[in-house]
Parts: sequence; C-alpha cells; structure tokens
Amino acid sequence: MNYPFNPPTRILMGPGPSDAHPRVLKAMSHPLIGHLDPEFIRMMDEVKSMVMETFITKNHLTFVVSAPGSAGMETCLVNLLEPGDECIICINGVFGGRMADIAGRCGAKVIKVETEWGKITEPDQIKKALDVCPQPKLVALVHAETSTGALQPLEEISKLVHDAGALLVVDAVTSFCGVPLKLDEWKIDAVYSGSQKCLSAPPGLSPVSFSDAAVKVLENRKTKVQSWFLDLSMVKNYWEGSKRAYHHTAPVSSIFALHEALNLVIEEGLENRWARHKKIHEALRKELENLGFRFLVEERYRLPNLNAVYVPEGVDEAKWRNELLTKFNIEVGGGLGAFAGKIWRIGIMGESCSMRHVELLTGAIQKLRKSEETKVSGQTVS
Ligand SMILES: Cc1ncc(COP(=O)(O)O)c(C=O)c1O
Repeated sequence: MNYPFNPPTRILMGPGPSDAHPRVLKAMSHPLIGHLDPEFIRMMDEVKSMVMETFITKNHLTFVVSAPGSAGMETCLVNLLEPGDECIICINGVFGGRMADIAGRCGAKVIKVETEWGKITEPDQIKKALDVCPQPKLVALVHAETSTGALQPLEEISKLVHDAGALLVVDAVTSFCGVPLKLDEWKIDAVYSGSQKCLSAPPGLSPVSFSDAAVKVLENRKTKVQSWFLDLSMVKNYWEGSKRAYHHTAPVSSIFALHEALNLVIEEGLENRWARHKKIHEALRKELENLGFRFLVEERYRLPNLNAVYVPEGVDEAKWRNELLTKFNIEVGGGLGAFAGKIWRIGIMGESCSMRHVELLTGAIQKLRKSEETKVSGQTVS
C-alpha cells in the first residue's frame, strides 16, 4: 500500500517556518548533483560568502550546519564548553532554557539569569551574575525570543561580557534577516540562526559564525568535543573550498534553496528588509489592536517579526486558531509554557511579511468574530 500525500497550501504566519519565495521552491526542485561536485563546492563558497554578508561579519569561520537551529545552538555550546567550565545563560523564554540544558549536558557549571517571560535581560542582571561568577567562559542570550516576541538589546551587554574576558554567544534564529544584527560591530563571538524564519528557506539548516576569539578557544580545548557530528575541528574543513573533505553528505536540495533565499535577501538589501519588517509590523499592530488584541511585550522591546498578543477576552483561542487553519488555511502559533491558551504568536517573517498577509489574517479574524456574533444573536450562519 502506498500513501499519496497532497499537502494543503497554507499561509504561514506562525513562529516558523515562513512562506518561501517561488524562486526558492524552484531551486529546491533542481536535479540533484553530488555534494563533492566542483559546481556544488563553488555554490557552497557562495553560500558562505552570502552568510558572511548578511551576518555583517568578516569571521572566517562562518558556515551552515546541516541541521536545524537547535543543532546550531548545540554546535556553539558543545564546541566552546568543556566539563568544569563556568558559563552564564540568560533565560527569558523557551530557548534560553534550552541553551542552559545543553550547557549543563556539556558538563559546564551553569549560572542562570532568569527573567520573567516577555521581558528582556537587563545589563544590571549581567553585572550581578558576573559578581557571582567573575570569569565565565561565555555568556549566552537569545536575541529574538520566539516564545514571547521580545527583542534583546545586545550592545551594552556585549561590553560587560568582554570586559569580563568572556565570549558572547547569541541565538539569532528569529532575528537574522528580519531585524538589525551586526556581528562584528556588536562583537558577537558565536552566533547561530535558522533557515526557516526571516530568511524564508525550508527548515533544517543553521547558519553559524565564530569570531577569532572563539576559534582560539576551540584550538585550546583540552578535551575532545562530545559530539562527533558537530565537532567544528572537522566540520570547518567541509566548508573550505578546495580543501573540502568528506565529512557528511550535505542536504543538497536544501542548500540550493538556501543559496537562492540568500540571493533574495541581498537583492532586497538588508536595511530595506529590516525596514519592511518594521513597516508591516506597524500595520499589523494597528489592525490587531482594533480587533481587541493586546501585546505581551512593551513597545520598545517588541520584535516586529514575531507578534505575541493576548487574544481578546471571551475568545476560545484554540478554536479560532484551528478555524484559521482549517477554514482559511492560515497558520498562527499558540502560546508556550505559562502563555499556552492565552496568546497567539503571529509571525510576519521574510516572504510572510507583506500587506497581503496582514489583510488575509485580519480579514479572516473579522469573519470569525462576525460568525460568533451571529451565533450569539441566534441567527443562522452559513
Ligand atoms: C529563538 C529560537 N532558538 C532556537 C530555535 C530552534 O530552532 P529549530 O526549531 O530550527 O531547531 C528556535 C525555533 O523556533 C527559535 O525560535
């Protein structure tokens, strides 16, 4: 027995993946070539150069992990931490918690800086953590916390971290290509992202970059990296043009797609792309507030591309979210942790960031509201 699968065509406005451009989908459907084919190697070099351009870095060790954002997170932590190291991890949502879990599994002593979900980590909290742990190997933060829609300012914290002689590790899964992220200017030592958010490529790849200071830490490790697959001493040769040696079989079609998605970002221009996300967020904010939604995060720390909003009083959020999907083919995300059942997470990322998306979603919400009102007043709903 076989099982033909005809997936529905959805409008993706959740926390990721986002909609992909037709050029990206077309790139994925090219006939396969070998991952050691000289043409593929040339294309990987272009991917590396475009990732450097979009991360705004000259970091030589910039590459793409053949696995999703969580593997990028794990790549940064397992390579930089050794058993017995001390590190400070900031937690203000799901993904900071995940970093702390991985760091603990590396055998590191983890000092957690915990903040109420929806808020940002303040520089004073880092200062206090550095009083307790004055020489951590690294301090890690989530730039764009997808579970709450909070955008973490990094520059002031970066200075504190470097003054303490530590490395700054940043989760940029949801910020990359959607809001300003400047690796070299902000002195970020290790960063990972994901392909499926503001880059609008299929999920399953994680752009990563290490500064020279982070590379030095790698070179001075006393112990072997616990993970074979993510050990950068081997992976880095895989991303070095003519020296390229077999490490694993690259996900060829996904990298075709990533290459095209990066081309699209560069054609648009990073600054224009950041401005587009901000402008569309403003339009969405106005519409949502008119419909009775309230934002979780205070305005100055709001992530434009991931809108976490309390659903209006009296609305059965799970029912509406399900109807958006099944009747209107629109996906939005539900809340996580303490926000489950209370908030929606509305993504306007990359290709999903357009006025068309805003109008489709808010039009569908208006129809749902009308249909509820009609039911309450006892009229028949078609
Ligand atoms: C901020 C953040 N970090 C890490 C991840 C993990 O990425 P992935 O699901 O691609 O493994 C996500 C995924 O949504 C995320 O939003």
